[in-house]
Amino acid sequence: MKPYVICHMLSSLDGRIDSTSLKSVTGKGEYEATGRTLGGDGWICGRTTMQRHFAEDGPFQSITNIPAGPQPVYIARRAESYAISVDTLGKLRWLNGDLDGDHLICVLSEQAPEDYLADLRRKQISYVVSGSTSVNLVEAINVIGEHFGIRRLLLEGGGNINGAFLAADLVDEVSILLVPGIDGRRDIPTSFDGVTLSKETAFPLKLLSVERREGDALWLRYEVVRAKES
Ligand SMILES: NC(=O)c1ccc[n+]([C@@H]2O[C@H](COP(=O)([O-])OP(=O)(O)OC[C@H]3O[C@@H](n4cnc5c(N)ncnc54)[C@H](OP(=O)(O)O)[C@@H]3O)[C@@H](O)[C@H]2O)c1
Repeated sequence: MKPYVICHMLSSLDGRIDSTSLKSVTGKGEYEATGRTLGGDGWICGRTTMQRHFAEDGPFQSITNIPAGPQPVYIARRAESYAISVDTLGKLRWLNGDLDGDHLICVLSEQAPEDYLADLRRKQISYVVSGSTSVNLVEAINVIGEHFGIRRLLLEGGGNINGAFLAADLVDEVSILLVPGIDGRRDIPTSFDGVTLSKETAFPLKLLSVERREGDALWLRYEVVRAKES
């Protein structure tokens, strides 16, 4: 029951994705407008992106520090649209289970503390626990498809979580809003970072569409070409 995964990113011409730096060269609301047409019933981000843009300041402080271990899926409620965070250790602090009108699902590893999960249940936030020391992305994404009925998932960064999805063969399509600007700084996240596979060839893509957008931006959509099974 794996959802169809589209990685949707805003990028400079040199592949960097710092949205603050790109603001002056991006048409107002263009990233969101292009994303809406992709028809996702959920969107997912890594912990760093969630911390920077959506979660409360400061990490969760566990009192017990007891890892929760294997846990059943907790479905606080079902919704038409979901916001999903990938947070290995349960560090992100949330006010409630609503994120810009989408129901929040936290994907965690078994290392997340038991009082963190209790806090999520108290706030009616759904969660999926998968993987003993790090999140098992393949399993978690299948669970999300099966238990929440998500069919089309937008993977919205940052680079490390995108890279992990790509390496795990979970990305079906890449959608890049390429804006007319060059960032050029070192150590700025790119659309796909941290892939550690011992391979020296790029992941091949097949062009699906190119659209010229407001302000000289290009919206590129590519299908990820899967390696042929031998
Ligand atoms: N331009 C755009 O479209 C766009 C979109 C989104 C973000 N961004 C930018 O991207 C930057 C953040 O990117 P980032 O690459 O540093 O962080 P990220 O991808 O948002 O988050 C990475 C974190 O996710 C957690 N994670 C859990 N399981 C993982 C796994 N299997 N593989 C990889 N990470 C996993 C890890 O933290 P734990 O180990 O603590 O769980 C990891 O450090 C920010 O500057 C943000 O503004 C840009």
